Amino acid sequence: PAHPIILAIESSCDDTGAAVLAGGELLSNVVATQKVHEQYGGVVPELASRAHQQHLLPVVTAALREAGITKDDLDAVAVTQGPGLLGSLLVGGMFAKTLALALDKPLLAVNHMRAHILAHFLRDPKPTFPFLCLTVSGGHTQLVRVHSALQMEILGQTIDDAAGEAFDKTAKLLGLPYPGGPHLDRLARQGDPTRFAFPVGAMPGYDFSFSGLKTAVLYFLKKETAKNPEFIAENLADLCAGIQHTIVATLLKQLRRAAADTGLTQVALAGGVAANSGLRTALQQEAAVQGWEVFIPEFAFCTDNAAMVAMTAHFQFEAGDVATQLVSPDPRLKL
Ligand code: KG4
Ligand code: ZN
Repeated sequence: PAHPIILAIESSCDDTGAAVLAGGELLSNVVATQKVHEQYGGVVPELASRAHQQHLLPVVTAALREAGITKDDLDAVAVTQGPGLLGSLLVGGMFAKTLALALDKPLLAVNHMRAHILAHFLRDPKPTFPFLCLTVSGGHTQLVRVHSALQMEILGQTIDDAAGEAFDKTAKLLGLPYPGGPHLDRLARQGDPTRFAFPVGAMPGYDFSFSGLKTAVLYFLKKETAKNPEFIAENLADLCAGIQHTIVATLLKQLRRAAADTGLTQVALAGGVAANSGLRTALQQEAAVQGWEVFIPEFAFCTDNAAMVAMTAHFQFEAGDVATQLVSPDPRLKL
């Protein structure tokens, strides 16, 4: 395989990932998703750390095997430094540091939010710099002007809940299983998005706010179920469609404003919420009107994965941006 050969590790939340990238080409990408959190309706940090501990070695071993290499072929070891859960980041961080030390190879510390964006460079078609990226996941909502692989600028972000959280929390109010985003998406396809209206959380500028939506849905459901206990069951598809329509409209409004103000016409989507069918359709429609070129990576590269960490590490390796053994996880690492 071509060089540099980089092993990347991702453990910032509840997915344990390892990937091998050789000369910018992905050789393997393995993810172990933690099921333990479902019964709690959200990620339990302590349980996530323990599960990473159990999954990491098998996941790394599988990634090396699938790539057809051994650890001695590696030119560098990369790991997500943050943002994320401290305990989870520590498990991956200590593993990567130890491996880099044992192999006497460079260590690369990667920003998870940059990695979501640079996932676009794993496969064709790739955007060209500069472009706009909307990163929407369970933990983050950011609108970013991507100047280059190493220089990015946050234009706007959520001031409270992330877009994925807005899906999951409102889905929970409707009695859907966790994480509710995909369930809400599926039900919304049969619903009428115009029957129920909820507040759009677009702030002045490019910021987002989704906590008002959650509160509005909560009070609306309380009021209606007091009159009719079957209200949710009888109107489930329309409720889902209304909520999804509101979240998508909020995202699109800020995206439209940012594109107009920056003059950028390449629009990229990243994060797990990129799977949302309503968002994809609305974005394609908007793109046709505005003349945008839209980029959406395949789903495996939208949700948390180590391939995107390896891609980011590749750019850093080329630029000589190498970490030392003194690097430590940063749960609040800025873009
Ligand atoms: O990127 P990701 O796997 O994890 C984080 O880093 O947060 O994103 C997970 C989020 C969850 O909130 C999930 O409900 C949401 O993405 N999600 C969706 C859909 N698929 C995943 N939300 C709406 N519609 C979907 N189809
Ligand atoms: Zn993520």
